[in-house]
Amino acid sequence: MNIAVFGTGSVGQALANRLAELSHAVVIGTRNVENALSKTGPDHMGTPPVGEFLKNHSSISLYTYSEAAKNASVIVLATLGHGAKEALAAAGDLDWKIILDITNPLDFSGGGLPTLFASNDTSLGEQLQAAFPKAHFVKSLNTMYNGLMVNPRSLGEDSTVFVSGNDAAAKATVIGILKEFGWKDSEILDLGDITTARGTESLLPVWLRVYSATKNGFFNFKVATGK
Ligand SMILES: NC(=O)c1ccc[n+]([C@@H]2O[C@H](COP(=O)([O-])OP(=O)(O)OC[C@H]3O[C@@H](n4cnc5c(N)ncnc54)[C@H](OP(=O)(O)O)[C@@H]3O)[C@@H](O)[C@H]2O)c1
Repeated sequence: MNIAVFGTGSVGQALANRLAELSHAVVIGTRNVENALSKTGPDHMGTPPVGEFLKNHSSISLYTYSEAAKNASVIVLATLGHGAKEALAAAGDLDWKIILDITNPLDFSGGGLPTLFASNDTSLGEQLQAAFPKAHFVKSLNTMYNGLMVNPRSLGEDSTVFVSGNDAAAKATVIGILKEFGWKDSEILDLGDITTARGTESLLPVWLRVYSATKNGFFNFKVATGK
């Protein structure tokens, strides 16, 4: 598939790397190519600059959001939550494109642990779906560290990846990608339409506190059901 990954950070790089390994045609989107390539040091998460990533991934090119989206049937949305709408607005025609939305509505403005800028009776996923009604948003993978998203077997045991979205065909495409990453059918939990992203985005305050308590992001949620 032709896939555009929006985001030059740790999630964008992890997804672009794995999708290219799986022989998809991958491009990365950014706000300004020159600015992105001029970055030299690692970001606040210790992720190397995208220029360094591209040197080691000759099949992947960096474009503006609109250039990257042009030939893509799937867009992986891996921008800062606050930048998601702006990135998609810059992308041009999104009609009928599938958007695998990994973003979280994290608000870092208060210092300390981030809060959610969309929650309870809304979610970033459904706000984006409402803003771009002809695109098919599928929220998934946002509840775990990026290394696990693309290599679930590295955890050493089964865990859960949630899927939320309105369009059945778009969800089937995303589930196909999840399976290519190594997710088993029994680990993939389709919660329903895009409003169910309220639930998964609301796991972030829990994720952050588990991380704070254990100093280890290499964990995942697992839904265990009884009979
Ligand atoms: N880190 C994880 O393991 C993890 C796990 C689950 C979910 N997530 C979610 O995945 C997303 C990406 O996380 P990340 O840590 O890889 O990167 P990040 O630092 O949250 O985001 C970096 C990307 O966001 C873009 N961006 C920032 N402000 C923007 C704006 N105003 N308009 C358009 N684009 C903007 C940047 O564009 P430029 O390239 O132009 O600078 C860059 O590509 C976030 O929403 C995060 O909550 C992360």
